[in-house]
Amino acid sequence: MNVFRPARHPLGAALIACGVLSATAATAGEVEVLHWWTSGGEAKAAAELKATMQKQGHTWKDFAVAGGGGDAAMTVLKSRVVSGNSPAAAQIKGPSIQEWAREGVLANMDNVAKAEKWDSLLPKAVADGLKYQAHYVAAPVNVHRVNWLWANPEAFKKAGAKVPTNWNEFFAAAEALKKAGIIPVAHGGQNWQDFTTFESVALGVGGADFYKKALVQLDAGSLKSPTMQKVLETFKKVKDYTDKNAPGRDWNLATAMVIKGEAGMQLMGDWAKGEFVAAGKAPGKDFVCVAAPGTAKSFTYNVDSFALFKLKDAANQKAQQDLAKAIMSPEFQEVFNLNKGSIPVRLGMNLDKFDECAKTSAADFVSSNKAGSLVPSIAHGMAVPSAVEGAMKDVVSQYWNDDKMTAGAAMDRLVAAAKNK
Ligand code: GAL
Repeated sequence: MNVFRPARHPLGAALIACGVLSATAATAGEVEVLHWWTSGGEAKAAAELKATMQKQGHTWKDFAVAGGGGDAAMTVLKSRVVSGNSPAAAQIKGPSIQEWAREGVLANMDNVAKAEKWDSLLPKAVADGLKYQAHYVAAPVNVHRVNWLWANPEAFKKAGAKVPTNWNEFFAAAEALKKAGIIPVAHGGQNWQDFTTFESVALGVGGADFYKKALVQLDAGSLKSPTMQKVLETFKKVKDYTDKNAPGRDWNLATAMVIKGEAGMQLMGDWAKGEFVAAGKAPGKDFVCVAAPGTAKSFTYNVDSFALFKLKDAANQKAQQDLAKAIMSPEFQEVFNLNKGSIPVRLGMNLDKFDECAKTSAADFVSSNKAGSLVPSIAHGMAVPSAVEGAMKDVVSQYWNDDKMTAGAAMDRLVAAAKNK
């Protein structure tokens, strides 16, 4: 029994019969949507989804659980589903979609997907990840690029520094920013943010093949190797350029430091662009986006999607299908991604309204796919089972925080973490 079933008023049927209520109202339902989009840019993007549903006469029930990266949201979701009280949709992505589908709690969206031709509108690899046993159970909203560096050009000018394209330049710029009294790197010490930095260092220092072998295939010989040693040492060096208030800081507050020029740069996915844009800042002028050092030819992807849960109420099922349909519509893909900082996942979209960062992202998505350097983000749940991801994040954050822990010890623990498969 769905406890969110809206009370049906007998008057409703009478009014429909008299033609007083529209057909839309007759089939209007409620969609309860779990997400963690609570920062400035994220909230604006989420508001577009709400508006899209309300325009169709449906009721939007917001189920926002704050916390970048979504760890808190996933904990709350688990308890809701276990108690038989699933929302209509939840922001779930990557291998976790399969994990939830295996529990038998996700709804089949094939009707919508067929009618809307999703198979021909999505990159095959993306479509496959949204299906369980060949049936669609989730709808995708975007493609985020994770391997970005965001910089404040004023701060760089003040420091006489150049926006870096490799790790040597990165540390040279960091030194110059520090000398100019500017916090070089805006960071939030939360494990998903630590890992966001770590995976960009791994990609920049080790290259795409190393990244795939070590962090996607979880090859023990790569997880413990001279290359990984170098990655870990470079990663740890980044910490020297963060400020003492970094532990626990939310990612959007770190972005705000770059916006205000208190900090010079931030390693973060392009949801950070949503923050710059929401603050009225223009790319190329007030802020700069460049690929994380050494990763210009690679692309770490993070596709946000909504898994759809089985519902009992017919009107709510209809609302849920309308949500899935709306998510993939060109209108929504455009307006949502303009706010979110990401690019549309739907193929063949016109990007005229998008800025240079988004256009670069779209071009690099295609070229890295051809070159074999399009890689899934571990930090953002796209690459490995959630248990492995959690264990690896713990190791990387321990290493970041504990100055006594050697790279050798971290590598041994990474090998052990990878066995959580
Ligand atoms: C990511 C998610 C993004 C953004 C970010 C920070 O995992 O894919 O949409 O919300 O977390 O909250």
